[in-house]
Amino acid sequence: MAAEQEMKGRRDAAVRRLISEAEIQAAVEQLGQLISEEYAEKPLTILGVLTGSIMLVTDLIRQIELPLKLGLIQASSYRGTATSPSELRINTALVPDVSDRHVLLVDDIFDTGKTMEGLIERLQDFNPRSVKSAVLLWKKVRTIVEIEPDYHCFLIPDEFVVGYGLDFNDEYRHLPYIGVVEE
Ligand code: IMP
Ligand code: MG
Repeated sequence: MAAEQEMKGRRDAAVRRLISEAEIQAAVEQLGQLISEEYAEKPLTILGVLTGSIMLVTDLIRQIELPLKLGLIQASSYRGTATSPSELRINTALVPDVSDRHVLLVDDIFDTGKTMEGLIERLQDFNPRSVKSAVLLWKKVRTIVEIEPDYHCFLIPDEFVVGYGLDFNDEYRHLPYIGVVEE
């Protein structure tokens, strides 16, 4: 096979590495320890935000040494291939009973912050004892809301990233690291 064809066949031929798999795993382990300390003795429900949080949620919950319940919530801003968000839609069909429980929303990235702000507001309808947020990445330079993520693993610059759950047009989610697609 010609070298060029070989490159095209690779899942990540055009992706510039930003954060390695090992760096992610180390940070997620630390986050799990921190959450284990802060939620000790508290009834905890982890709510993963679909679809981008799938890898973070499955890795993170294995690092939390507490009893916990797991649920999912779907948020989409219908951006398609565009990289700027539009109207936020929230699907709560997979949210379990969280009344009187402490909810930790887990998402891949806090960008403008509109998604997390909308999710926190919506969850108030379910009468949780508290709602906090944890994200892998925080693109702080783009954040326009008043709130900040309660927990984050990495601050990143204003670049559109993929991998470890994050997609571009639903591709690249399966990469075990974070990178930037280069044409
Ligand atoms: P926010 O509402 O602007 O904070 O955007 C949050 C959502 O937009 C995330 O849950 C992601 O789905 C998506 N998003 C924001 N920035 C990126 C990126 O750099 N790569 C992939 N998805 C992103
Ligand atoms: Mg998302």
